[in-house]
Amino acid sequence: MTTNPIARLVPLLLTLAASLAVAPCTADDAAPIFAVVSAATLQSSPLRDLPAQPRQDSLGTPLRLIEIDLDQRDLLTRHVHEQEGRCGGYFAFDSRAAAEAFLAGERSLQALLRPDAISYVIDNSDTILPWLPQVEADNLYATMAHLSSYQNRYYDSPHGLAAAEWIRDQWAALGQGRADVGTELFTGCTTCSTQPTVVLTVTGNELADEVVVVGAHLDSIRSGAGSNTQQFAPGADDDASGIAVITETLRIALDNGWRPQRTIKFMGYAAEEVGLRGSNAIAARFAADGVNVVGVLQLDMTNYRNGVPFHLHFISDYVNAPLLAFAKSLFDAYLAPLGLVRRDLACGYACSDHASWTSNGFPSVMASEPGDVNYRFFPGLHTANDTLATVGDNANASVPFVQFALAFIGEMAKTSSGDPTRIHHNGFEAAP
Ligand code: BES
Ligand code: ZN
Repeated sequence: MTTNPIARLVPLLLTLAASLAVAPCTADDAAPIFAVVSAATLQSSPLRDLPAQPRQDSLGTPLRLIEIDLDQRDLLTRHVHEQEGRCGGYFAFDSRAAAEAFLAGERSLQALLRPDAISYVIDNSDTILPWLPQVEADNLYATMAHLSSYQNRYYDSPHGLAAAEWIRDQWAALGQGRADVGTELFTGCTTCSTQPTVVLTVTGNELADEVVVVGAHLDSIRSGAGSNTQQFAPGADDDASGIAVITETLRIALDNGWRPQRTIKFMGYAAEEVGLRGSNAIAARFAADGVNVVGVLQLDMTNYRNGVPFHLHFISDYVNAPLLAFAKSLFDAYLAPLGLVRRDLACGYACSDHASWTSNGFPSVMASEPGDVNYRFFPGLHTANDTLATVGDNANASVPFVQFALAFIGEMAKTSSGDPTRIHHNGFEAAP
């Protein structure tokens, strides 16, 4: 044995370095998480005996405010997923005061019961019908393949930032040359680490103050990985598929020279998987700024369909009833004639980013994949198996979601009379 003190330190340093390589940590590892969760989810989780403050939202949903650490964060959702086959959602905050402020300003009742934000009419088939056959599964596949090639898109990892910047670049390229299209990174989320929310805005030509939002979360997570920023979390279905659907929707609308009457914002949210942080931050900002959001579509998981006779779920809870009814009539007008079939599914409290818009007072709906007969959930959810290979190495199941998103944007934001394609349809040549 050596007596040289430096030499004796070497194995210790190597062990330390190895542990850092396996599980790199951030300074925030020990920081507590304040979670607002439904009483039902807490009760069915192993955390049921934690001290919890009883609270409720404006709808009377029994909620609990709990203080948890990173390991407990995983326990909260995983048990509900595995044992009960349903979501175990929550809103996360970095202080008790922030969680209480969220609860105090919560506006679900307004969001769910408010009368139609705009009049919902189906009258824009001239624009939408020619779009529907233009969806290319290869494009969807390419976006999912790229996004699932990162080690992860965890909100707190450099990969999660790189993925966001890649999405921003893709969307900016699609909008290039259009003065009414802009792309930005929203960094106003104080609990999203370095991960921004990506926003592409097409400014409305006539009703610019009325805003339509179509979103999907850009982050991914591996259950049980804690704060490991090198966790392998490909997230092909959850939710690279939603980002791919948005990207293809944008491509088709912009390729066809569409100019909307209303403003439309496409969003790739940061940090959904750690408590809806990115979407809650941007929805709260819009509420504080008095932005008139007239309808939100959330796309979370679109690419898993295995042996079921339907193609799309509409989430039935924590969504706006008139907007959901309109979404269903859009499906029936534009997708049913293509042989496509819809179903309803309850998702639970705070299961995805639509809930952030609901809680901040805005009408939202959510569409999600059909799944299969055996699993109420995609079996690869939050695992290393959330890859394209697991879903049959194709993007076919996502095609109807693009068609639905096209119908949604075309009928929610409408087509400006100054739109060159509209002039063309009326028998005039578009200006060169
Ligand atoms: N994509 C899932 C939610 C989901 C699962 C939708 C299955 C449709 C079918 C989402 O990313 C998720 O994991 N949500 C968590 C809650 C979130 C706040 C951490 C959940 O539902 O447990
Ligand atoms: Zn998701």
